[in-house]
Amino acid sequence: MREEKTVLEVRNIKKHFGGVQALRGVDFKLFEKETVALMGDNGAGKSTLIKCISGVYLPDEGDIFIHGEKASIKTPSDARKEGIETVYQDLSLAGQMDLISNMFLGRELIKLNLGIMKILDRKAMEARTRKALESIGVSTVQTLKTETRNLSGGQRQALALSRAVSFGVKILILDEPTAAMGIKESRKIIDLILRLKEQEIPMILISHSVPIVFEVSDRIVIMRQGQIAGELRTAHAKHEDIVSLMVGVGEGFGKEAEK
Ligand SMILES: Nc1ncnc2c1ncn2[C@@H]1O[C@H](COP(=O)(O)OP(=O)(O)OP(=O)(O)O)[C@@H](O)[C@H]1O
Ligand SMILES: [Mg+2]
Repeated sequence: MREEKTVLEVRNIKKHFGGVQALRGVDFKLFEKETVALMGDNGAGKSTLIKCISGVYLPDEGDIFIHGEKASIKTPSDARKEGIETVYQDLSLAGQMDLISNMFLGRELIKLNLGIMKILDRKAMEARTRKALESIGVSTVQTLKTETRNLSGGQRQALALSRAVSFGVKILILDEPTAAMGIKESRKIIDLILRLKEQEIPMILISHSVPIVFEVSDRIVIMRQGQIAGELRTAHAKHEDIVSLMVGVGEGFGKEAEK
């Protein structure tokens, strides 16, 4: 039996899009301090699952529990209120806005001008953006007033990650953060993830990269055709076990994760 406390639990989540049953009753747990890699072939349902957790999609059925309490997550802002921060592959950053605006998108800091008029507190937002970027070791961005679209893919990921962690994140979800990135940029993002892991932030990392998953995760959960196909403790996992679970041969792997 595990001793860890459950931070997040989803029970029997189902979600369909028209005739496509994207999730067919998914049960999933995330424990305190752990990094779970969510793997599976294209179309297995990984992004749909995390979008249900982060309030982008409303599941057809099933429940989500945060620290054992049933949560009502109907919108992304509901998820944020629960401390769930998600970095999507498309990043959902507004390219034409500067870094500070992106950092605070939807939760801008307000101050009172002359004691009556509410105005944006740009100074405070700039200071917090700088601090957030520094706290995760990003020093490559020259000016915070640059438009976000001028950043490289890696810098954008770093910004999205620092945004995620600077608002009291309790659960961090990353959907393929290193996809379509060069080796150097990937390395930086992996190092960032490892730093967040040191801070014991529970994380779900979707990745197709076995080397990254082996380096970063504690546990590997594999999805296939809208269901959980199995799980493995990363320390005991073999590459071929992961592949077998992904493609659906050799059922029965993954039991060791229960020990
Ligand atoms: N918004 C949508 N509308 C219609 N079908 C969708 C939608 N989102 C996902 N699907 C379908 O649901 C299934 C699961 O998709 P999902 O994006 O969750 O897969 P995934 O595991 O994240 O794949 P990948 O590794 O390619 O990102 C697929 O068959 C996909 O076509
Ligand atoms: Mg996906």
